[in-house]
Amino acid sequence: MRVSEAVNSRRSMRVFKADPVAKADIEWIIANASRSASNGNLQPWKLYVTMGPARQRLSAAIQKAMDAGDNGPGAEYDIYPKVFAPVYDARRKLVGKQLYTLLGVPRGDAAGMLKQFKKNYDFFDAPVGMILCIERGMGNGQWIDCGIFLDQLMLLAREKGLHTCPQAAFSRFQHVVRRELGIPDDQIVICGLALGYADPDAVPNNLITERAPLQDFTTWFEA
Ligand SMILES: Cc1cc2nc3c(=O)[nH]c(=O)nc-3n(C[C@H](O)[C@H](O)[C@H](O)COP(=O)(O)O)c2cc1C
Repeated sequence: MRVSEAVNSRRSMRVFKADPVAKADIEWIIANASRSASNGNLQPWKLYVTMGPARQRLSAAIQKAMDAGDNGPGAEYDIYPKVFAPVYDARRKLVGKQLYTLLGVPRGDAAGMLKQFKKNYDFFDAPVGMILCIERGMGNGQWIDCGIFLDQLMLLAREKGLHTCPQAAFSRFQHVVRRELGIPDDQIVICGLALGYADPDAVPNNLITERAPLQDFTTWFEA
């Protein structure tokens, strides 16, 4: 597979098939992703991989917390800017609208939206659920490194015919994730990553999100 094929065929999948993923393939993906560049070669990523009953236990623990009215302490980092400039606000709203339209959840249907949101915690039924963490003392540079690592995981998954969905939703329930996986207090839960074989016929999996044209974010200096 060409790199561009991996890049262009990667998209966030939100319906996975139950088909198991070979552990050797997961190891291959992680080992290759660890070739990521990182500032000073610190390799600051900490990865927790759940599958089988362990994956189910993690999901069940979060569902149980939600059912008990626990909305989670929230992420330990700013997932979004504190103030949304109009351009970013518009992008976020557009993707939300597109996704919920495909799902057939009408605007204002809070119950329908919550039901879909909760699917995050089942890793959208993917058989493999990863949790990416970073040590608390790490700087912005190491958060960049972790982002690169996350992307490499997602792209390498494509080479094995697998799909992914990165999930900041897990950072909201970091207290449960921490307890279930024994994650030490000196680590911050960045996000989850669903990994599995996507259902190509599932409507939400057909969402091709938009991108701004090059000139909107690139400044050239040529002369
Ligand atoms: C760090 C990160 C966290 C994300 N968290 C979630 C999430 O919790 N739930 C979800 O459904 N999608 C999540 N997404 C997926 C984004 O919505 C998606 O990447 C974006 O809309 C672009 O679509 P694409 O991934 O299909 O290209 C996340 C993406 C990133 C990079």
